[in-house]
Amino acid sequence: MGQLEIFISRDQISRKINDLASQIRRDYYDKNPLMVGALKGSFMLMSDLVRALDMPLEVDFISVSSYGSGTESSGKIELRQDLKTPAENRHILLVEDIVDTGLTLDFLLDQLKKRNPSSLHTCTLLDKPARRKVQVHIDYVGFTVPDKFIVGYGLDFDERYRYLPDICCLEDSHG
Ligand code: IMP
Ligand code: MG
Repeated sequence: MGQLEIFISRDQISRKINDLASQIRRDYYDKNPLMVGALKGSFMLMSDLVRALDMPLEVDFISVSSYGSGTESSGKIELRQDLKTPAENRHILLVEDIVDTGLTLDFLLDQLKKRNPSSLHTCTLLDKPARRKVQVHIDYVGFTVPDKFIVGYGLDFDERYRYLPDICCLEDSHG
């Protein structure tokens, strides 16, 4: 595996999260939303985003598996860990680290819709539209990124590099 190069710095991430938070606060300040983080990749984003929001909200997590190992999706998605919070009549904001093929987000939206939330919207820090396989609507997008495999700030390659405070590019990756 090649070298790590900073692709989006911690300062850029932090500024972007403040931007996202002001948009989300404007739309949700009086709704006590249920913020649902898609594990594992979204854990760092969730903790920074909810702090930046600084408004009444609830937090829960949902976990799916789709990537075996490596940088290519297996395409098969399974629910690994469900919400603990009833979603009926809640304003849900689903938070993803990155939307790539869109299959994960599509699957999660499908799951959550069945529970009759009052509203269901989506936020992702990173959007990689080049590899989209299904069209998904994303309400709040941080950065649109090219077709490169990136790690850090919660994103992994085979469970490695999640701890990096910056988003980095694995040099030998596809794209
Ligand atoms: P999708 O189902 O193809 O949209 O993939 C979504 C999931 O794949 C994300 O939540 C990530 O866990 C993972 N993923 C996609 N692209 C990358 C990447 O560049 N780096 C790390 N993980 C990625
Ligand atoms: Mg992952």
